[in-house]
Amino acid sequence: MNIFLNRILLLSLMFISLRSMAGEFSIQINSPDQKLIIRAELIHNRLYYKLLKETEELLRPSSLGFVFSGSDSLNEVEILDSEITTVDETWKTAWGQRSEIRNNYRQLELFLKDKKKDRKFKLIFRAFNDGIAFRYEFSENPENLTILSEESRFAFAGNNDCWWIWADYYTLEKLYNHSLLSKAQHVAAPFTMVSQSGTYMSILEADLDDYAMMSLKQEAGDSLCFKVNLAPWADGSAVKTSGAFKTPWRVMLIGDNAGSLLESNIVLNLNEPSLIKDISWIKPMKYIGIWWEMHLGLASWGLEGGRHGANTNNAKRYINFAAEHKISGVLFEGWNTGWENWGKPDAFDFVTPYPDFDIRTIAAYAKNKGIEIIGHHETGGDIIAYEKQLDSAFALYKSLGIHIVKTGYAGPTNPNTENHHGQYMVRHFNKVMRIAAKYQIMLDVHEPSIPSGLSRTYPNLMSFECVRGMEWNAWSEGNPPTHTCTLPFTRGLAGPMDYTPGIFDILENKQAEKRVKWNWQDKGISAVHSTLCNQIALMIVLYSPLQMAADLPENYEGQQAFSIIEQIPTSWDETHFVDGKIGEFLVVARRSGSKWFIAGITNEEARKITIPLGFLKKSETYSISRCFDGKDAHFEKNPTEYTIDKMKVTGPKSIEMPMAAGGGGVIILEVD
Ligand code: NOJ
Ligand code: CA
Repeated sequence: MNIFLNRILLLSLMFISLRSMAGEFSIQINSPDQKLIIRAELIHNRLYYKLLKETEELLRPSSLGFVFSGSDSLNEVEILDSEITTVDETWKTAWGQRSEIRNNYRQLELFLKDKKKDRKFKLIFRAFNDGIAFRYEFSENPENLTILSEESRFAFAGNNDCWWIWADYYTLEKLYNHSLLSKAQHVAAPFTMVSQSGTYMSILEADLDDYAMMSLKQEAGDSLCFKVNLAPWADGSAVKTSGAFKTPWRVMLIGDNAGSLLESNIVLNLNEPSLIKDISWIKPMKYIGIWWEMHLGLASWGLEGGRHGANTNNAKRYINFAAEHKISGVLFEGWNTGWENWGKPDAFDFVTPYPDFDIRTIAAYAKNKGIEIIGHHETGGDIIAYEKQLDSAFALYKSLGIHIVKTGYAGPTNPNTENHHGQYMVRHFNKVMRIAAKYQIMLDVHEPSIPSGLSRTYPNLMSFECVRGMEWNAWSEGNPPTHTCTLPFTRGLAGPMDYTPGIFDILENKQAEKRVKWNWQDKGISAVHSTLCNQIALMIVLYSPLQMAADLPENYEGQQAFSIIEQIPTSWDETHFVDGKIGEFLVVARRSGSKWFIAGITNEEARKITIPLGFLKKSETYSISRCFDGKDAHFEKNPTEYTIDKMKVTGPKSIEMPMAAGGGGVIILEVD
């Protein structure tokens, strides 16, 4: 992987002073296609940048800088030098939405000096054709700085139409708001919007390492200006540095349509190539697991009430189903002791299974059937206890031939004064990522900080939650159809998402009499708010290299539609946006080898989408399988009616995808 096929580096040292008055300066770079223009400006010694897309102003002059502890503000600078370079390279992914990625940008490096101190630093801008990024680098004269505030701003030029969730420092599991920019106050990234002239933008971060996670806060007195806000430490500081440090990249994806946001690779491109040389043990896959039955209240994670889900017989039942249905992995939650004490210090023991879960027998049984076990570490947020056990916990899994672990952080952190999104937790998540790599273990992290493309550098970092996922449909009023039509354009832009789709018992009534309420949010009205076809389509639309078919094996048995799930790949050669509107509907086309998978989802509105197939070869005959909502299907009234049909077409020009309210569909095309 990471073979550099082609790299052009044009280096030009330059120092252009467009205005030569002391303390005033301006320099600009354009994207390779010339359309995006970043202009860095020094006005009365203060640094600003502004952004244009051709003649459209996207950002007004937006200030940059820092406030450090000790009455130390970096807000007056001197420009020592500047350098503009161009990079055009292509690299191969370990897994992902495409097998090759082009990385093409122009870069402006500003070498700066803090006017009030003898402190030098760099500000780097990159202009891609589909967005921009900037970061600060402090590598000279290292000193231990405590950042109280990063003063980077996005001063938008218009009152854009936005999709956002409220930011707090604890969770990203929320439903989206759709409003004008001026109505958003404190939002989590990715923060997606469209300008009045139809330019789509999303603000997010890349390469988040040893820093605090970013949210965006509206400025008092300027409702269109948003400042980077960092989740603080308990003592109020934002980031504690020691010596040289870099901020994460502040990224803005930009495009003419919503689809260009989805097709952007900027976040991955802003991360370093893989540090893991042998990636033969890293394998994307579909999985099932002892999981949904606990969320539904049909079983429990602990031993209480004799309803323990993770027992040896049940584990074998899941392994058997996986082996018979082309599913590679099985997750076991609730296998280890401690669930009775969730929330108390030192609750979980990550090396001791419950007595009814014979881990060695199960590992041997799975191995014999060619099934990968997905282990589970629920920490409850007790970082102190987890870090003590990290090595022994991963060593146990490694000794059993287990290469994947799902981690979870549901609960306030211990030390319980630290924020989930602060630097303390970012450090912890990245420490686990590095230790897991040492044990050749892939990770699926629940309740983490937002993905920022680190999976390029550590491709064992497979999937992330950071989303109000399927579990909410088991014990709350659930997620409306519009939620999943918003996610690809918001949360999905940051990286893979373990949403855990694939539920077939949509109304959750197959074993209703056995369900026991366990979650305080459960009002007894839970259901999945989609059709069955939508659930299958989500497995393609919402990208995750570890993709769960989340329902119980008994709900899949005998269902013809499961044969579609069996065929869905978890890593792709190509991915394209076909059609869509944020929050309304989305159709994507993905290719794996010679097979194309086209998947669509819609919100509460039924629609029929005509998909142009111009990208297929005209002369060839294709076998086409379609799985779509039945003619009377409806996500609330009739969610499970579906039709599967097959046909052969030579040189197909277009194909129809009918979608019921809350519905979806999948079309598989293969050269005959
Ligand atoms: C929350 C996770 O998101 C979910 O997948 C898991 O089952 C529970 N925590 C228990 O660990
Ligand atoms: Ca969760």
